[in-house]
Amino acid sequence: MKRIQIINGPNLNMLGKREPTVYGTQTFETYYSELKALFPEVDLEYFQSNTEGFLIDKIQETGFTFDGIILNGGAYTHTSIAIADAIRSITAPVVEVHISNVFQREDYRHHSFLSEACKGCIVGFGLDSYRLAIEAIIRF
Ligand code: DQA
Repeated sequence: MKRIQIINGPNLNMLGKREPTVYGTQTFETYYSELKALFPEVDLEYFQSNTEGFLIDKIQETGFTFDGIILNGGAYTHTSIAIADAIRSITAPVVEVHISNVFQREDYRHHSFLSEACKGCIVGFGLDSYRLAIEAIIRF
C-alpha cells in the first residue's frame, strides 16, 4: 500500500471561504473525503499548518517513510528557502501543487523556491491538482 502525505500551508484551512473566485467553494475536508474514497488502495494522510516550522517538522517526520509528499506551501512557496531545504533533506519525492494557476496571477507568485527541490509540479487545476499528484506518485 502506497503511503502519501498531503501537506497544506498557510491559509489553506480557509478553503471554501477564502477568495472563492480563485480557490472555489469546497472545503479541503470535504475534498479530502472524496480523495480517500477515490483511492481506497492508498494510505492517505493530511496535515495543514499556518506555521512554517510545523510544515518543516511534518516534511522531516514523513520524508523517509512515505512514498510521496504532496505539498501546497501556500504563500511560503514564494518565500521559503527553509522549506526548500527541508525538501532537499528527505528521500521521499515531493510533488508541489497549487490550486490556482500561479503564472496567471501576480508577478510575485511566478517564482517558487520549492519547485527546484521537487520531483514535479501540478498547477492550476483547482482541487483536482491533488488528485493528479496522487496519480503521479502512484506511478513513480
Ligand atoms: C496557492 C497559490 C499561492 O500563491 C497562494 O499564496 C496560496 C495558494 C494555490 O494553491 O493556488 O495560498 O498555493
